[in-house]
Amino acid sequence: LIVPVILAGGQGTRLWPMSRAARPKQFLPLTGALSLFQQTLQRVAGASQYAPALIMTNAEYRFIVAEQAAELGAPLSGILLEPVARNTAVAIAAAAAFVSARFGADTIMLVLPSDHDVSVDSSYHEAVQHATRAARAGDLVAFGLLPTHAETGFGYIKAQAELGGGASPIERFVEKPDRQRAEQMLAEGGYFWNSGMFMFGAGVFLHEGEILAPETLAAAKAAVSQSTTDLDFVRLDAAAFATAPDISVDYAIFEKTSHAVVVAVNFGWSDLGSWDAVWKTSSKDASSNVSQGKVTLSNVSNSLIVSDHAHIAVEGLDDIAVIATDDAVYVGKLSEAQKVGAMVKVLRAGK
Ligand code: GDD
Ligand code: MG
Repeated sequence: LIVPVILAGGQGTRLWPMSRAARPKQFLPLTGALSLFQQTLQRVAGASQYAPALIMTNAEYRFIVAEQAAELGAPLSGILLEPVARNTAVAIAAAAAFVSARFGADTIMLVLPSDHDVSVDSSYHEAVQHATRAARAGDLVAFGLLPTHAETGFGYIKAQAELGGGASPIERFVEKPDRQRAEQMLAEGGYFWNSGMFMFGAGVFLHEGEILAPETLAAAKAAVSQSTTDLDFVRLDAAAFATAPDISVDYAIFEKTSHAVVVAVNFGWSDLGSWDAVWKTSSKDASSNVSQGKVTLSNVSNSLIVSDHAHIAVEGLDDIAVIATDDAVYVGKLSEAQKVGAMVKVLRAGK
């Protein structure tokens, strides 16, 4: 049995102020009629090899998730609600505890992020088959993509051996390197980008997690065993869940484990995670600017200017991002767009 587990609890802070806490990017129809969350659900919903998907999300997004799933008519294995945002390590650990209790520890989980624009073909299905074999053998599988530039917003995976279509043990996993390190790894070769898609047995993850991230695992297990059912939702116990450290699965498990393998996957893919990624995938004018909305530029280059309503005029600047919505405006260096996430933390702290 393979249960798809969709991570839909992120706040998409690096696309602030377009993506807001109340309606983060995975629920926005950024690339078509369906939201990225719905596209993710649709990719697994009809397929005979999968059980109905399990959705992990923040309690705040329960109605958006239920409504968007209902729109597709997709059956679900459940919607688990996280009472506070504690990142992906505990979300995945809670999913593993839930899946293990409901379907058995041998159940394979296919963990999927919900913030990617993906187009799948036969090579994707082959990669999933390779991964399933490795997961059944007790490995933790990360799906790797061929890197194209020194992106600092991704994890980097060095494979021990050439991947002849199958799985290779991971020699090194480096989450979100600085620019210099990213450039080094690209030059050195043999690295993949971590796609954020994973596959493993529920029991294998629980076991490895207990060794590498015991606090996270304790919080997740207690939150599941003391959970309550509310309509179609499973509410994870708030007091137990709140004791989980705020850490992603990449740092908590994948950088540390020696049981991880990488399977290469080769699909049309883009992570619309930050403003520089949006700039990269959009068509540009002769000075390499991307603009949306009412925008007037003079002597401006390599910039992204997006406006909901206001008319924006910019003079004599290079490498800037200006994002203007009804009630908030962001201005910063486009090449340092990853820093928007940190800025949002400052804003939330009320500074
Ligand atoms: N349920 C739940 N709870 N989901 C969450 C939470 C949470 O607290 N935090 C984030 N997510 C979801 C996001 O909505 C997204 O679908 C997925 O988990 C990954 O989280 P991101 O916050 O988008 O991670 P990232 O993009 O910075 O980095 C990850 O993905 C990269 C590829 O896009 C890492 O796995 C990198 O190594 C990877 O390269
Ligand atoms: Mg992301």
